[in-house]
Amino acid sequence: MNLDQVLNDPPKPHNEAGQLIVMGLTTDGLRFIRDNADQSSATLETGCGLSTVAFALTGSRHFAISPAGSEFEILKSYCRERGIATAQIDFIESPSETVLPTLALPPLDLVLIDGRHGFPAPYIDWFYTAGRLKKGGHVIVDDVWVWSGQILRDFLAEQPQWEFVAEYEGRTAVFKKLAEGAEWMEWTQQPLVARGGRLQLIDGQPRVVEPQTAPATSAVRRALGDLGRGDFAALGKKVFRRIGG
Ligand SMILES: C[S@@+](CC[C@H](N)C(=O)[O-])C[C@H]1O[C@@H](n2cnc3c(N)ncnc32)[C@H](O)[C@@H]1O
Repeated sequence: MNLDQVLNDPPKPHNEAGQLIVMGLTTDGLRFIRDNADQSSATLETGCGLSTVAFALTGSRHFAISPAGSEFEILKSYCRERGIATAQIDFIESPSETVLPTLALPPLDLVLIDGRHGFPAPYIDWFYTAGRLKKGGHVIVDDVWVWSGQILRDFLAEQPQWEFVAEYEGRTAVFKKLAEGAEWMEWTQQPLVARGGRLQLIDGQPRVVEPQTAPATSAVRRALGDLGRGDFAALGKKVFRRIGG
């Protein structure tokens, strides 16, 4: 069986309001798995579903992590009925945030982050897999249209240790790991963090940046106070000072 045949007859492991459905990675995300893993690869995903079958088809040594044992059972039956091997897959029934910190893993070639999407799950998944991914390996972050995934994508896109590869349907982002260590760096070495807050790194120095709207807002508020009190002299002086620079 190949990926196109699976896409025409997908497994339905996910339960939504009592209905079994397939949530499913984007088709291009699934093709990326097909094209970037084989029997010599080690791969891992948080969550499971259509992507697990895509990994199974590659024959990679695979780790699928999800707390939903019933999803695993549906996927295993689906593969069994179609002659797709799953003996090379470790189905790990646990929340990824619990198991990843201590899970023994070989060096990984490809990681898919598509488990829990609530804050801070995608960051935990990335943190505990980034160091286990080989240099030159890839991470796929799914659902970057959810804010939690979007922040991870934006962070990686600016981090020199990672290279943006592709984004599919505004949903699935792929990055290549170029160097170790981004997950351990201090905020000053993380471009997105270093310019995102009120304490920013400017010319290599941390500086507090006042919100741009504050002075204008308080000036207007003070002027309205003068107006309300009928203090036209004070108001006139302030306007004159502003106009005069
Ligand atoms: C969007 S679905 C994954 C879709 C899948 N990649 C596909 O191609 O069909 C999210 C998955 O995350 C799993 N999940 C929920 N909480 C999790 C957690 N804490 N750790 C790992 N997986 C989790 C769900 O059981 C579900 O399988």
